[in-house]
Amino acid sequence: MASSQGAQTPVRIAPSILAADFSKLGEEVRAVAEAGADWIHIDVMDGHFVPNITIGPAVAKALRPHCDLPFDVHLMISPVDPMIEGFVEAGADIISLHPEAGPHLHRSLQTIRGFGKKAGVVLNPATPVSVVDNVMDMVDLILVMSVNPGFGGQAFIESQLEKISALRARIDNHVAGGGQHIDLEVDGGIDRVTAPRTIAAGANVLVAGTATFKGGPEAYADNIAAMRAG
Ligand code: DX5
Ligand code: ZN
Repeated sequence: MASSQGAQTPVRIAPSILAADFSKLGEEVRAVAEAGADWIHIDVMDGHFVPNITIGPAVAKALRPHCDLPFDVHLMISPVDPMIEGFVEAGADIISLHPEAGPHLHRSLQTIRGFGKKAGVVLNPATPVSVVDNVMDMVDLILVMSVNPGFGGQAFIESQLEKISALRARIDNHVAGGGQHIDLEVDGGIDRVTAPRTIAAGANVLVAGTATFKGGPEAYADNIAAMRAG
């Protein structure tokens, strides 16, 4: 069932730079910022937790002077705890991790928040929503993976729409009970067709790599606007 709260919350678009031209990442980040992006999504992969290697803190740090938008850092690394501080120092604003990537989710979230940063929990397609039940008071963001993590350009997994709706209900219930705001983000296979479906299910932040960067810089503004429109 679609959520009214999801529809009322402004939709934010977070381009994943995984689909950008890696030979000119600074330029690409500036271009999507000018094209209307809200956050910059940085996919960090270690070749161990997921079968791909991407970006480390040094690259995030080098990008920091290129734009003022929040850096939304998605850690797909294990063990995750030893790398949190490096991304804080690199200029991350939001740091999200998978519960499977460390032994103590609660402690990892405490660590991120202890640095004064926003903390997120990422749910893989097979991870149940109940994983957030006992940490609702200490998350700023819940990220639903609508593909298996590791690569851009994969097909949207339909079953995750139901999970988004279930999490929207949990978040609305939490806020109604006096809890803090929690963003509900979706990541993987988002384009102008799947975006409105995820918004209707209750997501308010959409990660999009392939669909943002396709067509080159002159297409970025249209690509972003089309997904935001819902
Ligand atoms: C996958 C990453 C995603 C990915 C999305 O592991 O977390 O952020 O880059 O790419 P698209 O939008 O191309 O599916
Ligand atoms: Zn991601």
